Formats: sequence, C-alpha cells, structure tokens
Amino acid sequence: MVRMKNDAVIYVAGHAGLIGSAIIRRLERDGYQALITRRRNELDLQDGGRVAEFFDEVNPEYVVLAAGRVGGIIENQTFPADFMDENIAIQLNVLKAARKVGVRKLILFGSSCMYPRECSQPMAEDILLSGKPEPTSLPYAISKLAGTYMCLAYNKQDQDARFIPVIPNSAYGPHDNFDPKSGHVLSALMARLHQAKMSGAESVTLWGSGSPRREFIHADDVADACVHLLWQDNAALELPLNIGVGVDVSIKELAELIAGVVGYKGRLEWDLTKPDGAPRKLLDSARIQSLGWKSNVGLAEGLANTYQWYVDNASIETVHVTEARV
Ligand SMILES: NC(=O)c1ccc[n+]([C@@H]2O[C@H](COP(=O)([O-])OP(=O)(O)OC[C@H]3O[C@@H](n4cnc5c(N)ncnc54)[C@H](OP(=O)(O)O)[C@@H]3O)[C@@H](O)[C@H]2O)c1
Repeated sequence: MVRMKNDAVIYVAGHAGLIGSAIIRRLERDGYQALITRRRNELDLQDGGRVAEFFDEVNPEYVVLAAGRVGGIIENQTFPADFMDENIAIQLNVLKAARKVGVRKLILFGSSCMYPRECSQPMAEDILLSGKPEPTSLPYAISKLAGTYMCLAYNKQDQDARFIPVIPNSAYGPHDNFDPKSGHVLSALMARLHQAKMSGAESVTLWGSGSPRREFIHADDVADACVHLLWQDNAALELPLNIGVGVDVSIKELAELIAGVVGYKGRLEWDLTKPDGAPRKLLDSARIQSLGWKSNVGLAEGLANTYQWYVDNASIETVHVTEARV
C-alpha cells in the first residue's frame, strides 16, 4: 500500500456536496494540508477551457471528482438533457485535463442506477451493461456510464493512467439534500418525519408498500473507501468498484428507524396506489473488500448523526413537504 504524502496536492471537486464534504472531512482528519477546492461559481466544470487552465495552474497529483448533476426521478424526467449534458461535460473536461497534466490518481463516481433494471442481487460489477437501466433515471445512468467507461478506456490506452470509477449505493449524511422534490428517499423521509413531529401530525402517508429493499451508505464510509483507494497501489482499474455496506433494509424498516431517531410517535401509513420501484438494490462489494476496505458506520449511528446535522443546519422553512419517493 502506498500512502499519499501529507503535502500531496489533492483537488476535491464538489467539496460542498454530500460526498465531497465527507472527503474533505476525512482528508483533513488525516492531516492532508494541500487540499484544493473551488465552488461552481469560481470554476464551472462545464467550461472545458477554464478546467484545462485550472489544471495547468494547480497541477494536482490526486483528484476526487465529486461534482455533478444529481437528482431524483422527477428531476431526471424534467431535465433529461441537462443531466446528460452537465455530467458528460464535467466528466470529459476533468478527465481530459487530468490526463494532460498526468494526475497520479483520480476517483470518479458512477451510480447504482447504471445497473440493469432486471438483474440478479447483489449486483456485481461484471453485470454492468448486461441489460437496460431503469428508464426513469436513464439520462443520469447513461451519463454516469459514459464517465465510468471513459476512465476504463484511459486506463487501458495509457500505461500510467490511474482513473478509478467507483459505484457507491445510496449515500446519506451531513450536507445531503433534504428537499423531498429533488432529494433521495432517506433525507426526504427524515425531513418529512421531522416536520410531522413539529406540527404534531397524527399520521404520515408514504409512497408505495414500504417493501422494496435498499442499501444505504453513510458519506463518511464512501469517503473512507475513496481515500483507501487513493492509497492503494493495486486498485482494480479494469472494472469499476462497488462501495456498499453489504446489507439492505426495507423502506418500511428505514421509515421506522428514522421515526425513532427523529422522535416522531405518529402512525406511518402506506399509499399502495403509488409505485414501489425495483424490489431490491444491493451491491456486491466483495471486490473492494478484497482490497482491504469495509464499512464502519452502522445505519442507526449514521441516521443519528445525519439528523443532528439536519436539525443544526437545515432551514426547515425551505423544505417542501411532498410525497417521499423510493
Ligand atoms: N448521493 C448519492 O447517493 C450518490 C450515490 C452514488 C453516486 N453519487 C455521485 O457522487 C457525486 C457526488 O454526489 P453528491 O450526492 O455529493 O452530490 P451533491 O451533494 O449534489 O453535490 C454535488 C456538487 O457538485 C458541484 N457541481 C455541480 N455542477 C458543477 C459544475 N458545473 N461545476 C462545478 N461544480 C459543480 C456542486 O457544487 P456547488 O455546491 O459549488 O454548486 C455540488 O457541491 C455525483 O457525481 C453523484 O452522481 C452520489
């Protein structure tokens, strides 16, 4: 295992987001001092010319590309062109610039949405592209497949390329998006149950049956895995790497856990007229485990620290109360 020097120049793109902020927390905790960050209003990664100039100027040794267009089903369906355009442009611009300056290692985030809609569980990396992804998130999935396979192509063509595409399952934690319209199921549920507690609502109605099973990973675990891969000399470069915790929960179990953390004592009701989505989405994380990494943050602990962050930081008034989606 090769440990990065504490003065290695590391560029974390998307550092204000859920995963990027966790990467920064982790690197700072480990004593890395030369961390480079830019908000979108300082460096728009869709602007290829500016990205190339920035890489020439900063010459990073390591890059974590945690910037991108992220969102749920409604956003994907409303803005399919923007999802494709923004994610493909960001990935292409950053990978090209990183290749040109000879970045030592780069992490790029794919998504579990890239897996075929119908496939065996848990999902291993070698079943990617064996079937069509879920149509409601297709623009996002295609854009992420493009970035993932671009990394693998560079690794194959360039002897010294070290571009590592990773596939975390549904991430959550501080700096998550708690808006039920554009956020993910876990943060949306947390915001709704908090609101229900504050307003004294007797019941909350949630979409579907609650039976689909999902795997949730704390952003601190994702960051831990990524830093582990940056240190690894022998990280796999011919296939992306799943990053999961290895266990899933039903949405009903998740809602009950969150209700406990939030302190909501009302009833949870299920609207069976609403769709459930795929019955199960669990990653097979055997390959990253074989590289010496395993998850450290349990769901109960992760939910508690996420709720604390939400209460301390989120502006409750700006959270729209709509139906949570799975
Ligand atoms: N969250 C998940 O469950 C999950 C799971 C698997 C993979 N991923 C992937 O992991 C990555 C990070 O996800 P996340 O959930 O942390 O996202 P996030 O919280 O929405 O943060 C995304 C960040 O991207 C930056 N950004 C967006 N467009 C940009 C642009 N044109 N130029 C520069 N910066 C830009 C934003 O910067 P500003 O704040 O400065 O606007 C924002 O901080 C994404 O690629 C996502 O697809 C996420």
